[in-house]
Amino acid sequence: PTIYLITPTYYRHVQKAELTRLAHTFMLVPNLHWIVIEDSEVKTKLVFHFLHESGLNFTHLNVATPSHYKMDSTDPNWLKPRGVLQRNAGLQWIRDNFDPDHQQGVIYFADDDNTYDIRLFDEMRWTRKASVWPVGLVGYLRYESPVVKNSKVIGWFTYWEPNRPFAMDMAGFAINAELLFDFPDAKFKLQVRRGYQESEFLSQLVTIDQLEPKAEDCTKVLVWHTRTEKPQMKNEDKFKKKGLPGSDMNVEI
Ligand code: UGA
Ligand code: MN
Repeated sequence: PTIYLITPTYYRHVQKAELTRLAHTFMLVPNLHWIVIEDSEVKTKLVFHFLHESGLNFTHLNVATPSHYKMDSTDPNWLKPRGVLQRNAGLQWIRDNFDPDHQQGVIYFADDDNTYDIRLFDEMRWTRKASVWPVGLVGYLRYESPVVKNSKVIGWFTYWEPNRPFAMDMAGFAINAELLFDFPDAKFKLQVRRGYQESEFLSQLVTIDQLEPKAEDCTKVLVWHTRTEKPQMKNEDKFKKKGLPGSDMNVEI
């Protein structure tokens, strides 16, 4: 099976560094197709050139998250969603371009800031419906994980709301592409209770007894929910205050 990686991404100073870390991991993995969806009105030159130079199999898409999609401050149960329309664009591309009668595929939502061990892709490649594993550095814990007994998922090790239907991070599961055709309306939604994005999505596709625990019965961490510090640019501003040009904007970072 081909692994389809769906990666939402948006412009910020660390974007190319993040994408480089991912690309150099993905280069080590056979039979991947990287679907990169920019949260932008247009496809940027940076991402366009980056993907073309990467040598990876890729599809480059874009869809902007509407800027007014801010939650009303009186409604704390909802949060401005991240990556929702972009992941849906990736799913739509697969529905339009993948032939479930003649191809085999597995879909994984690979956010651009996480860290992936290449062995994770061996774990997910033979997913029948949905496979699951622990995620490191998430939920204000060392890791979160499905709780596994006799090779079945029986619950969730998380501090926060373990009674969610699928209490795991986006990085903690992969699905068989066939499910997109069995459930043609399944998608991510803009209006979902905070922390329920994964649960809302998976509830449309599988039940808990269908989950396939991977990574040695969910005892090994092969993906980390790293979050990159926002770099300060205050000395660029100081250059400008002094009437000096600062760094050359023709140099891409
Ligand atoms: C957590 C989960 O790990 C995400 O999968 C989930 O989408 C997110 O919460 C959420 O609250 O919706 P977190 O690290 O807080 O992740 O989110 P980011 O990594 O900042 O964003 C998730 C993905 O969406 C990334 O690939 C990021 O590049 C992308 N994104 C983020 C956009 O496309 N546009 C944005 O404005 C922000
Ligand atoms: Mn993240």
